[in-house]
Amino acid sequence: MPGLLDEIEPLKQAAVAELKAAPDLAALEQTKGAWIGANGKFTALMKRLGTLSKEEKPIAGKAVNAAKVELEAALVSRREELELKAALPKEPTDFTLPGRRRVLGKLHPLTQVTEDIVRSFRKIGFVVADGPEIEDEYHCFDALNTPADHPARDTQDTFYLNVLGASRSESGSIGETPTARSQLLRTHTSSVQIRVMEKQPPPIRIIVPGRVYRRDNADATHNPTFQQVEGLYVDKGVTAADLKGTVEFVFRELMGEDVKIRFRPHYFSYTEPSFEIDFTSALVKKMGKDWLEIAGCGMVHPKVFENVGYDPEVWTGWAFGFGIERIAMIRYGITDIRLFYENDLRFLRQF
Ligand code: DAH
Repeated sequence: MPGLLDEIEPLKQAAVAELKAAPDLAALEQTKGAWIGANGKFTALMKRLGTLSKEEKPIAGKAVNAAKVELEAALVSRREELELKAALPKEPTDFTLPGRRRVLGKLHPLTQVTEDIVRSFRKIGFVVADGPEIEDEYHCFDALNTPADHPARDTQDTFYLNVLGASRSESGSIGETPTARSQLLRTHTSSVQIRVMEKQPPPIRIIVPGRVYRRDNADATHNPTFQQVEGLYVDKGVTAADLKGTVEFVFRELMGEDVKIRFRPHYFSYTEPSFEIDFTSALVKKMGKDWLEIAGCGMVHPKVFENVGYDPEVWTGWAFGFGIERIAMIRYGITDIRLFYENDLRFLRQF
């Protein structure tokens, strides 16, 4: 039966051509069945091998097997091609398009301003100190030479956590005094001056950014919670000129080179003499003002040094305190302090 051997090659070529032409995976599977499925044309050819003579069978068998291997290779390669084609995007890709960016968060404007303030003071050797927001009367007032009848100590002005005398905590290991230790939310960061001086000897060069609390009703310029920065410098021979130079340096860094500083005499119980700092710049002029009051400061009162065990005959120093919100409001031209706390993204995204 010479016919079979001659049929193998044309049949294989037809099968390979058809497999290669299959337009998609489904069509390919169909074509595969039509050739090597149970009733496929190539399968039929193989079935006929049994009808051959003993001599013909090995030769034809070898040829059929070789053809089948080729056929299956053609099937696999076409399948890979079609799978790849199916995985490709339907639309052509424009690799020149800009990528999709993830939206990055930002720091709150008050945090940004605080970090700028800290950065400026670090340049001139100040380090950041920290203290508790839940404070006792001693550190907040008494140690700062603030008399019992001072308005800041009134319950109208301060958030007391327990009433004077009702609880006498013995827990404060530093600065132990006979004063009643009523607890409160600190009204200013000045309390940290005391905590730091109690813990370490001079020289001291610290700034203290932090949250403070007062019984104020919220309006455009007040909020019961706000942030301050305290500064304290203690060494031998410290003068008010150092204070003025330092404040000038930092405010120029923060608000621009055209900033001018002015000291006005004032009263704070923990400094003597005391001053209020006014500043002006093109920005202030634009707001229609000549000067803006920005901070309180002065030379550390000898009583304060005595309270922390420093000899006031040996040590001198100055301190200041100012509100961070106020700096941020002037810097960015913000007219309502409450905007800082509302977390409205339309506001926050601008910084
Ligand atoms: N503690 C004051 C306040 O909250 C600010 C202040 C004034 C701080 C004078 C000082 C200072 O260190 O010397 O208004």
